[in-house]
Amino acid sequence: MNIHSTDKSIKSCTFIVLSNFLLSFTLFVQLLALTTNSEPIGYGYIVRSVGVDSSGRTLTASLQLIKGSSVYGPDIQNLSLTACFETKDRLRVRITDADHERWEVPQEFIPRETHSSPRSSLLEKRSSTSLPSSEDTHYFHTSTISDLSFTLYNTTPFGFTITRRSSGDVLFDTSPKNDSPDTFLIFKDQYLQLSSSLPANRSSIYGLGEHTKRTFKLEHNQTLTLWNADIGSVNVDVNLYGSHPFYMDVRSHPGVGTSHGVLLFNSNGMDIVYTGDRITYKVIGGVIDLYFFAGPAPELVMEQYTELIGRPAPMPYWSFGFHQCRYGYKDITEVRNVVAGYAKAQIPLEVMWTDIDYMDGYKDFTLDPVNFPLDQMKKLVDTLHHNGQRFVLILDPGISINSSYETYKRGMQADVFIKRDGVPYLGEVWPGKVYFPDFINPRGRVFWSNEIKIFHDLLPVDGLWLDMNELSNFISSPPTPFSTLDNPPYKINNSGSLRPINEKTVPATSVHFGNALEYNVHNLYGFLESKTTNAALIDITGKRPFILSRSTFVGAGKYTAHWTGDNAATWDDLAYSIPGILSSGIFGMPMVGADICGFARNTTEELCRRWIQLGAFYPFARDHTEKFSIHQELYIWDSVAATAKKVLGLRYRLLPYFYTLMFEAHTKGIPIARPLFFSFPEDTNAYTIDSQFLIGKGLMISPVLTSGAVSVNAYFPSGTWFNMFNYSNYVNMKSGGYISLDAPPDHINVHLQEGNIVAMQGEAMTTRAARETPFELLVAINNRGNSSGEVFLDDGEDVEMGREGGKWSLVKFHTDVVNNKLYLRSKIVNEEFALSKNWTIHKITFLGLKKGVSKISAYNLATKIGTKIDRSASGVLEMTGLSVLIRKEFSI
Ligand code: NOJ
Repeated sequence: MNIHSTDKSIKSCTFIVLSNFLLSFTLFVQLLALTTNSEPIGYGYIVRSVGVDSSGRTLTASLQLIKGSSVYGPDIQNLSLTACFETKDRLRVRITDADHERWEVPQEFIPRETHSSPRSSLLEKRSSTSLPSSEDTHYFHTSTISDLSFTLYNTTPFGFTITRRSSGDVLFDTSPKNDSPDTFLIFKDQYLQLSSSLPANRSSIYGLGEHTKRTFKLEHNQTLTLWNADIGSVNVDVNLYGSHPFYMDVRSHPGVGTSHGVLLFNSNGMDIVYTGDRITYKVIGGVIDLYFFAGPAPELVMEQYTELIGRPAPMPYWSFGFHQCRYGYKDITEVRNVVAGYAKAQIPLEVMWTDIDYMDGYKDFTLDPVNFPLDQMKKLVDTLHHNGQRFVLILDPGISINSSYETYKRGMQADVFIKRDGVPYLGEVWPGKVYFPDFINPRGRVFWSNEIKIFHDLLPVDGLWLDMNELSNFISSPPTPFSTLDNPPYKINNSGSLRPINEKTVPATSVHFGNALEYNVHNLYGFLESKTTNAALIDITGKRPFILSRSTFVGAGKYTAHWTGDNAATWDDLAYSIPGILSSGIFGMPMVGADICGFARNTTEELCRRWIQLGAFYPFARDHTEKFSIHQELYIWDSVAATAKKVLGLRYRLLPYFYTLMFEAHTKGIPIARPLFFSFPEDTNAYTIDSQFLIGKGLMISPVLTSGAVSVNAYFPSGTWFNMFNYSNYVNMKSGGYISLDAPPDHINVHLQEGNIVAMQGEAMTTRAARETPFELLVAINNRGNSSGEVFLDDGEDVEMGREGGKWSLVKFHTDVVNNKLYLRSKIVNEEFALSKNWTIHKITFLGLKKGVSKISAYNLATKIGTKIDRSASGVLEMTGLSVLIRKEFSI
């Protein structure tokens, strides 16, 4: 079998060197006596030799098969294992065939951050390694600057562990503990198995998707299958559109809340069996390429993970406005009416979308000449732009086979389609018979970009929606007889029913550019389409692109936003949207939302009302439904419209906060929507909470998720939490606990925790108009008088966000108490952008003041502070009528 690999360079491990840890870096490789209880099993691999490279960072071991298994094909005889400290927080363990190249994701697809070798003269190497003289020994590999260590056990069969040195906690342990073959390392051409034990009672695991889950914390005893498929997110616990073999493990002991991350960097189909006390990867190709991220805080795990896979793409400011879509807008008049409907109801609408209905015969890059004629579409886009609104439309990858269709003709001429048996593979999607462009093919990428350019020149859309890119195919082609690609020996649990991997997609025997097999690259399709589209839009517009992709893979967040796919208008799906968006954040795709009010089936007034209350706080907020269900635009029901105004009003006031969180996500990888344990890792109750979430550090959303409810039982970690709709109303918790909150039909509970400063602007119908309004600071001080926050400012569409030397500013705020005086100060990082604006703060609201205020003084203010000061017994102090220039640092 020809498993094609396009990259050799990733075989050698290279490292990052941080100047401040070079001097302290020391590597140990010690041969230590070890007593193991386990009897030799006579199965699996043993260690033949061990060495360390000259830098001292990489341990290499040769492994030899001692006994194979009879299932899933012959075992590979000789393996090579490397363990290397790529950074102080990242350890990579890679196991592959020692004698033959195998498929692995090429570095040029996802440029994992590896770094050139350190200056070895600065390294102190304590000892070298020799061949073990007997069994019952192990090799200990670490770096004094890393909290992780790698231990290789020279047992029969061999095993390895990853340990957190500071606590001695074993994070990953592959040594077979009993003679169950399920725990052995198995390495065959089409079946890799690696298993680690886990401490079930003190480990909470998140991630490993994409699936619709009832809970965010993964439940024990389940198989998580990864194979990109158009299955519909209404289906719980089965593989969906994307593959992310990454998990975060939060330990409750030792060191409560100590977190680490584990990525299996592999693009092949797989089952991950998670029992609680064990995780077992069963993969049908590629290599074992594991990355361990030391954390120890959840936020640091995200920072370290996205340092490797790519930081999330900055999203344009406007994309944080509200979006409306529907599959089934029958013509442009209907689209115009929807835009008008929002304006009339005075509900903010930022982005209007059209689904495949706009196309001529569902052909990409065409317009239906009757229902969506070009001249009227141009006018619509012009009008939207004039009003500060935007327009996004859908593209599917399948190119209709039609000799009078220019896109098809150009594609054929450039020979850009995925092939099978030497000819373009024939699939079927909305337009009927189609060929699929190959994004691995450089010509395929040029073709796609060029088609976007031609179309964009005609109709200057603001963003693109990439659908059906799993790839989704309406037909299943018969497998090639006797092919173990189309019919691999180990069957992953595709669709929860062992469905053949070939069903409703491109067959695994199809071939991409450079002989890359669909079998290996299947899970990369949507990722590569997003990457290509992102580059094309930057090239065409010179602006920050907005792309929404259904299919994703590790690293996709660098190019695209994501939505959770085809949910249904049910209360269950409303609730499952929270685990869905939180998981996407963990996968490095923070710009995410679920179809508000539900995609399939008819929504109801009550469900849609509750859904917009929650959806207003999704990072990506879009109402979308399908053509067979009733309309659900927010103005249709009076009660939905009223609630939408209220919650979107708050969202729009919070736009500077959302956007600043986008900056944080882009620079550090920390999600916009976060599970409670990100801010409260020491509160073990927070580990299972997924009916509430945080926006940023301390803004907690506690939605109603059941029909008929008019209260919510909400969990509050310790501290004081201020009601965002009524500041003088707050919850004070000595330690974490549940509280029943009123949640009348028009209300969602949103609370800000003490210690946070949030910069807000005014409500408006568009983000453009909102950005013209003065700022307001909400300062929620804690009982020591401290609080902090920041606001990121730029033009909202620069390709880069916060680039060195770029036009942006970060204004930081903090309070502290000195000699019984409370100071609020601002500090500006990189004045560049702020200087060009006359933005002012016109109101500052302090929350949580304990004592009366006797005097207020201000320093460095361009204008005097205002006169109106309202003090209330509840500790709220409002300073209004201010005119404080943001661009100048101030102190109050
Ligand atoms: C499937 C997508 O998931 C859905 O959002 C879209 O409306 C339909 N395809 C039609 O394009």
